[in-house]
Amino acid sequence: MAEKVIPVADHRYLNAVPSIPPKLESATGFVADTLARPLQDLRISVTDRCNFRCVYCMPSEVFDKNYAFLPQTSLLSFEEITRIAGIFVAHGVGKIRLTGGEPLLRKHIEKLIEMLSSLKTPDGREPDLTLTTNGSLLARKAQALKDAGLKRVTVSLDSLDDATFKRMNDVDFPVSEVLHGIDAAHKAGLGPIKINMVVKGGMNDQEIIPMARHFKGSPFILRFIEYMDVGASNGWKMDEVVPSAEVVRRIHAVMPLQEIAANYTGETAGRWRYADGGGEIGVISSVTQAFCRDCTRARLSTEGKLYTCLFATGGHDLRALMRSGRTDEEISTVVAHLWRARGDRYSELRTANTAGLEQPLRKVEMSYIGG
Ligand code: GTP
Ligand code: 5AD
Ligand code: SF4
Ligand code: SF4
Repeated sequence: MAEKVIPVADHRYLNAVPSIPPKLESATGFVADTLARPLQDLRISVTDRCNFRCVYCMPSEVFDKNYAFLPQTSLLSFEEITRIAGIFVAHGVGKIRLTGGEPLLRKHIEKLIEMLSSLKTPDGREPDLTLTTNGSLLARKAQALKDAGLKRVTVSLDSLDDATFKRMNDVDFPVSEVLHGIDAAHKAGLGPIKINMVVKGGMNDQEIIPMARHFKGSPFILRFIEYMDVGASNGWKMDEVVPSAEVVRRIHAVMPLQEIAANYTGETAGRWRYADGGGEIGVISSVTQAFCRDCTRARLSTEGKLYTCLFATGGHDLRALMRSGRTDEEISTVVAHLWRARGDRYSELRTANTAGLEQPLRKVEMSYIGG
C-alpha cells in the first residue's frame, strides 16, 4: 500500500541569519514598514508543543508520535526572550502576547512572565502582557500567572458540546475543564477574558448559537474566527470557511445585534453588541475581510526566528545573532531594518486573488509561530 504523504513545511530550512547594517542606530520608540504600519505588537511562541490536536491547527495524522518537535536546546531561554522583547518594546511594542503551541506547557512560564513584566515602554508604561491558551491547565495555573504579572488571557473554546469539542481537539478533552479554567482565570482577575472559537463549516458551526447564548450577558467576550489556510497541514478548503457575515446573520436572527466601533486601529475583531444590552461579540474575518492594512504584529518563534507575517515562509534568525555575541544595539538595528522592509499582506492578496487559494507548500505552522 502506498504510504500517505502529507507535506509539512519544514520551516527550519528556510531561515536567514540577518546581516548587521554598517550604521548602527538607537531605537526611537517608533518604526514603520513599507505600508506605514508601525511595529506595535509582539507575539511570542514559547513552545511548539500542545496537548491538543485541533483539526484546524495540529492534525493528529501530521503531529503524531513521529513528529519532530524542537529539541530543548533550540528553544530560546527566558533570558533570551526577555532580551529580544526588550528590544521590541524600545521600538514601540506596547502589547506582548505569549502563545504556543500551548504556552502553559512551557516549564516555569510564570518566571518568564515575571521577567517580561519588568519591561517598560519608552514613555514609561508597562506593556500589555497577555496569553492565548486552550484553557486545559488554567484552573491550576491562573492565580500563579496573575501573581507573576500577567494582565489577561484569551481562551480557545470551539464548542460547548462534548462530542463536537472532542472531535475538534482530538484528544478527548472535555468542555467542563476548559469552563473551569475560564472561571479560575476570571476569579484571579485575568480579564477582560476573550473566548476564541474557530468556526469550521460542517464541524462546529451548529455551535454558533449555543456558544453565543452561553456567553451572552457574561463577563466574557466571545469571538468567532474564520477558519484560515494557515500552515501546510490542515487541508484547508474555502468551502469549510463560514464567513463572519453569516455568523452575524445567524445570531442576529435570534438575538438582534448592532455593529460598534473598534477599540483601537488594527483590532483583529469586528465588534457587535446585543441590542438588549447582553454584552458584545467579535468576529475575526481573516479570510473574507482581511485586516492586513493595519497589521502591526511581529511574531517570534519558539527558536527565535522573527516572522513579519503569520503566513510567511521563512523567518529571520535572531537567536543566531544573540548566540554569536551580537550587542543589543546591533540586534535592535537589524529589527528596525527588517520592519522597515516589511511589505507582507498575505490575507489581502489571497482575498483579492482567489486563484491564490491553493495552499502553497512550506508555509510555517501556527503551532510554531503562534496564533
Ligand atoms: P486582543 O489583544 O484581545 O485584541 O487580541 P487579538 O485579537 O490581537 O489576538 P488573538 O490572539 O486573540 O487573535 C485571535 C485570532 O485572530 C488568532 O488566533 C488568529 O486566528 C487571528 N489572528 C490574529 N492575528 C492575526 C494576524 O496577524 N493575521 C491573521 N491573518 N490572523 C490573525
Ligand atoms: N484558523 C484560524 N485560527 C486558527 N488558530 C489556529 N489554527 C487556526 C486556523 N487554521 C488560532 C485559534 C486558536 C489559536 C490558538 O490559534 O484562534 O484559538
Ligand atoms: Fe493546540 Fe491551540 Fe493549536 Fe489547538 S489551536 S492544537 S489548542 S495550539
Ligand atoms: Fe498581518 Fe500577515 Fe495576518 Fe495580514 S496575513 S494580518 S500581514 S499577519
